[in-house]
Amino acid sequence: MRILGIETSCDETAIALVDIVRTKHTFKIKVLKNFISSQIAVHRPFGGVVPNLAKREHALNLPILFKKLNLGKQKPDAIVVTVGPGLEPALWTGINFAKTISKELKIPLIGANHLEGHLYSFLLSQKVNLKKIFPAAALVVSGGHTILLRMDSLTKWKRLGETRDDAAGEAFDKVARMLKLSYPGGPEIERLAKNGNPKAILFPRPMIREKGFDFSFAGLKTSVFYYLRDTQKYSASDVATSFQEAVVDVLVKKTMRAAKEFGAKSIFLSGGVASNALLRKCLRQESKKIGVQFLVPQIDFNTDNAVMIAVAGYMDLLRKKKYKIFANANINL
Ligand code: KG4
Ligand code: ZN
Repeated sequence: MRILGIETSCDETAIALVDIVRTKHTFKIKVLKNFISSQIAVHRPFGGVVPNLAKREHALNLPILFKKLNLGKQKPDAIVVTVGPGLEPALWTGINFAKTISKELKIPLIGANHLEGHLYSFLLSQKVNLKKIFPAAALVVSGGHTILLRMDSLTKWKRLGETRDDAAGEAFDKVARMLKLSYPGGPEIERLAKNGNPKAILFPRPMIREKGFDFSFAGLKTSVFYYLRDTQKYSASDVATSFQEAVVDVLVKKTMRAAKEFGAKSIFLSGGVASNALLRKCLRQESKKIGVQFLVPQIDFNTDNAVMIAVAGYMDLLRKKKYKIFANANINL
């Protein structure tokens, strides 16, 4: 099946053309085209994403990227567009564009959940044998969400826990702002962290010992704030690396505890924060220690993209899930 994916939930305008073939125990996913137009430079002066600017940029970029696809006579079998969660004005831009081309080209339109896009991106990591990976512990860490799930099959999952306040990516972005780094903060913190001593400052690990699987990052962020306020001369690299260490510590410990508790056969990592090298390394190491498979997509499929949206739409078809073609800023997994 050939699918055209469209993603405009936040600050990336993305379009992709993907071929998906289901075989007995796996999927063959071939990315034919994958275009992303990033708005980082537009939002950077404001220190975060400005919804109306995002909407304007999506409206400008969508026709350009669509033209670049150069579909010609080869019509895709379906168009998939993100319906949520995300910024409402941004979502609507993608939805309205998708509706127009769906009508013009007479191709069915499917709505996709952005978080399911992240969740299913383990399928983009390597060839997986569906018989061998479930149950899986899946960690979705992005700018808006931090969710730990138990996945029992491709279509059945249960949320074990999520953040009670800031998402992991949001904490990276806010701490970056305190350190006067630019937006988005995650990659900036990671860069700065390379030159620091990760044991220099012992920041708190919120909820690390609590029984459940919820997370909280607001307290950690506040600790960094007080440290910066009360320390006359500090090393920004030490702060960045010690903060990163604390976030990764919590994410890894909780994910591993969940995996051990229910005997996971694999661990999935996805979302923008999954681009973080320390997080990838630690989860990979810990998975190896207990002999489970670790699946994480290549870096450019962690941050927002339309390939994962095409895959999520395909899964909607498989499990007969129909999302309303209507912006729904707050849907969850
Ligand atoms: O999934 P994503 O692209 O967008 C959302 O769905 O939110 O995630 C963006 C988030 C931002 O908060 C960004 O700072 C964070 O992912 N991020 C990182 C890294 N790269 C992106 N956080 C830590 N380390 C990174 N290398
Ligand atoms: Zn995302």
